[in-house]
Amino acid sequence: MDESLDRARALLLGAKRIAVLTGAGISAESGIPTFRGATIGGDHTAGLWSHFRPEDLATPEAFAANPKTVWEWYAWRRELVAKVAPNAGHAALVALEKRTPHCTLITQNVDGLHARAGSRNVIELHGNLMVDRCFAEGRVLGPADELPGTPPRCARCGAPVRPGVVWFGEALPQKALDAAFGAAQRCDVFLSVGTSNVVEPAASLPFAALDAGAAVIEVNPARTPLSARVTIALAGAAGDVLPRLVG
Ligand code: OAD
Repeated sequence: MDESLDRARALLLGAKRIAVLTGAGISAESGIPTFRGATIGGDHTAGLWSHFRPEDLATPEAFAANPKTVWEWYAWRRELVAKVAPNAGHAALVALEKRTPHCTLITQNVDGLHARAGSRNVIELHGNLMVDRCFAEGRVLGPADELPGTPPRCARCGAPVRPGVVWFGEALPQKALDAAFGAAQRCDVFLSVGTSNVVEPAASLPFAALDAGAAVIEVNPARTPLSARVTIALAGAAGDVLPRLVG
């Protein structure tokens, strides 16, 4: 690991353009459970999707059929996120952004912890848990309403209010997606952190970077469908590996 870590450090230090993709694993050590597989660090040992079915909670159809159930599940997740703080992994990515001429942080996470840590150039591919949107018009309405119970109504059109995340079956925000693929295709080094790399279209980003000639570094305690293709795989927890990689 030390030799790989040194090589990865040198790659990042020499890069003018870096794209970083993060997933639930980077927030695990803050105490937020991942979705799949083991959560390394923090209080949770199994992913959310081993306790809950995504089709019951994370689709527009589920919200239309059972708004209260879905709203309350998100209220629980909002409460969890509000209670925790960014960890050493998030902080290391802030330092990386500060010292790199062009650094784009693409995240699948909806917890807002990168921004709270101080990262500035963040693309939130799957939206943000801590804002509300109108279910009919999609407009962002403001900071999240954490109250459990039935969802409130949009003041303009009367439709139910929904959490500002992207659900299964929904399109990702086009501007964010274009910016993410642009950053992946233009970077010298692509750093993938704490993602199982199975959910599209985010899962294609590191392959787009590889096809464009970038070096790809992966930080994950487990192997993923990307691992066999990467330039350097660093097996470990983000809160441990990232500070050593960037510090
Ligand atoms: P997953 O839960 O699928 O994967 C989390 C990854 O983090 C796994 O590969 C773990 O091995 C790794 N991991 C666990 N602890 C870690 C640690 N301390 N440091 C580094 N890595 C660690 O999460 P995502 O890949 O983010 O989408 O999932 C992608 C999307 O699927 C999510 O954005 C969400 C989910 O369903 C939607 O809800 C639309």
